[in-house]
Amino acid sequence: MALDLFSPVKLGSIALKNRMVMAPLTRNRAGEGGVPQAMNVTYYVQRASAGLIISEATPISVMAHGYPALPGIYTDAQVAGWKKVTDAVHAEGGKIVIQLWHVGRISHPSLLPNGAQPVAPSANKPKGKAFTYQGLVDYVEPRALALSELPSIVADYVHATKCALAAGFDGVEIHAANGYLLDQFLRDGTNKREDEYGGSIENRSRLLLEVTKAVVEVAGSDKVGIRISPVNPFNDMKDSNPQALFNHVVTALNPFKLAYLHVVEGGIHGGGIADPFDFPALRKHCQSAYMANLSYDKARGNAAIASGHADVIAYGVPFIANPDLVKRFSINAALNQADSSTFYGGTEHGYTDYPFLGA
Ligand code: PHB
Repeated sequence: MALDLFSPVKLGSIALKNRMVMAPLTRNRAGEGGVPQAMNVTYYVQRASAGLIISEATPISVMAHGYPALPGIYTDAQVAGWKKVTDAVHAEGGKIVIQLWHVGRISHPSLLPNGAQPVAPSANKPKGKAFTYQGLVDYVEPRALALSELPSIVADYVHATKCALAAGFDGVEIHAANGYLLDQFLRDGTNKREDEYGGSIENRSRLLLEVTKAVVEVAGSDKVGIRISPVNPFNDMKDSNPQALFNHVVTALNPFKLAYLHVVEGGIHGGGIADPFDFPALRKHCQSAYMANLSYDKARGNAAIASGHADVIAYGVPFIANPDLVKRFSINAALNQADSSTFYGGTEHGYTDYPFLGA
């Protein structure tokens, strides 16, 4: 029988009961100190019928924050809070990995310790506004990380990975997409460095590969995935030759034998794409499982799996509005529509109160 969204699959050591993955979704509803709270447990456990849940993007250190009310994965209290999430998801037969996040320049002093300046590969200010506790405010110019500081960034990923394993996650996803720190190093619209972390494609890929090596040493390659977004212009991003850059990145990741490569195949938030890009060509370079994301529906998801383009499909907005999305797809039931006014921040409303079928 042909493979489809409902076929089981293994991503590294993580056994999925189906190929529908809940994409990472920023929801800004963590408790004090970046500690996941009761409503976060409810939200994730409601969605445990997904083959795999990828947590919301989660800062790996105090300097990695860039939005209000994010959960973290670097303190004991955060680990204890996440443990309640992973235990509840596992009790329902689900699997969950955490997305490890450093926002780089997409932050603001008001979100950082002692009003610190955000850090980035280079000192260039993004266009657009930061989302802060005081509302939308202009971004500031970030500070270029010194060469001597990069080992401490790698160490923060290692610490967060240890925390994630202690919190009971089935694995970790390294967030190298969407214009955050690792993507800021990859793409030459943001990376203007003149040391061995800037310039050539090899140099711009260096930090991601160092982070990957260090995280794999802690977690094991079969528990590590990576997310990239080759042509997503979100967060004022661009690159002069994304096909060459990301073909290289994917090829350089192959020796790690990662659990999966997660690819955002376009521009998020309706942003379109900055450049043409051949995703099937990228996919041919990838020797790990391939997770496709962005605007897939059931038919396109099944087609991508049947054709061999993708092994699994990550669904974002549909999982916000449909905790039982797997059931709805399986019986072709109507979908709840998502209310974008409750995506970021707020209460249980628009978070844990979307109805299940028959409710
Ligand atoms: C967002 O808050 O809009 C957001 C966060 C993380 C991403 C992408 C978008 O990777």
